[in-house]
Amino acid sequence: LIQTMLELVGFDRGEWQMTTGSSNANMIAMMIARNLYGENVKQKWNYNQKKLIVFVNEESHYSFDKAVNILWIGSDQLVKIPVHTNWEMNVKKLEDKMKEYWEQWASFFVAATAGTTVRWAYDNIENILKLKEKHDFWCHVDGAWGWVVFLSDSLRQKYIKGIEKVDSFTFDFHKMPWVSLICNMLLVNNRKWILQQSCSTSNTDYIFKYDSVEWECQEPLDFWVKSLQCGRRVDSLKLFLDWKYYGKQWFAKKIERYYKLCWYAEKYIENSDELELAYERNSFNICFIFKAPGWIQQNKLNKSIRDELYKRSLSLVWSATIGWKYFLRLLICNENLSETDLNDFFENVVSVWKDISVSSRK
Ligand SMILES: Cc1ncc(COP(=O)(O)O)c(C=O)c1O
Repeated sequence: LIQTMLELVGFDRGEWQMTTGSSNANMIAMMIARNLYGENVKQKWNYNQKKLIVFVNEESHYSFDKAVNILWIGSDQLVKIPVHTNWEMNVKKLEDKMKEYWEQWASFFVAATAGTTVRWAYDNIENILKLKEKHDFWCHVDGAWGWVVFLSDSLRQKYIKGIEKVDSFTFDFHKMPWVSLICNMLLVNNRKWILQQSCSTSNTDYIFKYDSVEWECQEPLDFWVKSLQCGRRVDSLKLFLDWKYYGKQWFAKKIERYYKLCWYAEKYIENSDELELAYERNSFNICFIFKAPGWIQQNKLNKSIRDELYKRSLSLVWSATIGWKYFLRLLICNENLSETDLNDFFENVVSVWKDISVSSRK
């Protein structure tokens, strides 16, 4: 299974770990980089060293904020890079920031996102890798949601290029592919034993023995050495069974179908008099609003529509804010969903609005 996943991503001599989700995988990747780039961090912390700086897309997941806290890097050392108009990280600004910190700071970790949570944008990995040739850092990719384009040959080419050269990559099976929770994988490229180096501790030979069996397998049989946990659930089994039974093509078809449904939803909104895209669709997520004059009124109305849809048990749709703007965020990842369901959903949005406006006039 691991070999299949390494090959899918294009990693050579890779390392792997099943984790509890991309939040933890992001943190573990950062920890590996911290231990590599900081001197004796594992033994002494980085007292008296250059401060370590992490760079992320300003629309990246909040788990990076948590990771700098847990790993004692500090939130001031998490630098959020502005995005282009298509919401991918502005790599020119990334380089400018790195230069700004040059003398006293060590830029050690850049996390690209493949599928940002709200607008589902893909950072340009190839451009980040060009920067890596000039300035040495660990390049991690958070593909929690957006990795699914790997499954489809046509979508992979369009959205993710260069992934086979990054240092680490996390992807969730418990999100879009709908493998039951918890099921996530962290892969590390071309650095055999690096997970062990980062996660293992000394003084454990009183309980874990490295005798001939491990030696013959060339792999530790106790996964504690390469993970933060001791006892673990066998999350890989669910994935193994799904992959074996359904196969890659089945997953690919599912993702391509969601993609078509997103396109359908986008066209529905574009043809509607009442609805409007809040942002152009980048790939999967559909960010939209019910039109209303003035942004205060618009935000209020869209919040009420969402609440009302839920109270009436019609649907529970995601929402988000960027700057001052509140909007609804349709995320299609249910294989039973059809075009008819989408029509019903949008019709409900409009009919709920009609009811709200009638009752507010009374
Ligand atoms: C881009 C991104 N990264 C990481 C995560 C966290 O993943 P998990 O829930 O598996 O910890 C999410 C969750 O939605 C996400 O959207």
